Amino acid sequence: MEKVVISVGGSVLIPGNDDAKYIAELANMLKDVSKEVQIAVVVGGGKMSRYYSETARELGGTVYQLDELGIGITRVNAKLLTVALGDIANTEIPLKAEECARMSAPGKIVVMGGTEPGHTTDAVASMIAENLKADRIINASNVDAVYSDDPRKNPDAKRFSKMTIQELKDVVYDDHDAGKSCVFDPLGVTIAMKEKIDLYMVNGRDIEELRNAILGNEIKGTFVDSH
Ligand code: UTP
Repeated sequence: MEKVVISVGGSVLIPGNDDAKYIAELANMLKDVSKEVQIAVVVGGGKMSRYYSETARELGGTVYQLDELGIGITRVNAKLLTVALGDIANTEIPLKAEECARMSAPGKIVVMGGTEPGHTTDAVASMIAENLKADRIINASNVDAVYSDDPRKNPDAKRFSKMTIQELKDVVYDDHDAGKSCVFDPLGVTIAMKEKIDLYMVNGRDIEELRNAILGNEIKGTFVDSH
């Protein structure tokens, strides 16, 4: 059975817009595809984690403390998804990527959040994929594809339907320098590159698109070739 790791952004899971309906649809689709592929899911923090980080920053918190709060929220979000998944999912949220990989098995769906300060859940997805020797990583965000620049600000931004992981790295590190939100955590890209694991960058609110990515089918988003 192929193994797939999915990084679901908090902005996808809990945008605050009929979240239970979306999460139920997501859980049903995941249960369905888990008959064909072995799945691990990492869940991000979204606006809840940003709220906690910003509040802690105003209170004089350190970057480490802000990250710890973010991790706490990602784990709460992971728990929320396990509620929708029911028996097929884990009851305890793994704290480390290695633990998640050990718990993973065909017909089960293991869900987790962050691990430790200094990176995001995208990097955790790559770490799980490395441990599992996964066939692909799916990044389910609220954007439909990777662009060379912010398409809302730059009308000449190029949209990629396919790119190499080196090209993604160039985009990600440019983003990083500008302090913008990254399309995928730079550490996550480095691990995927080293491990030669392909990435599928899709809009996670589009359940059919996400299903196609998980199954390794054609997608509307960006396929990142790591080979
Ligand atoms: P996210 O993975 O959601 O980060 O974790 P993000 O990229 O900021 O969010 P999106 O993708 O734009 O929605 C939320 C926060 O939790 C901390 C970081 O501070 C991160 O910004 N975190 C998360 C860690 O420190 N370590 C982890 O392993 C995961």
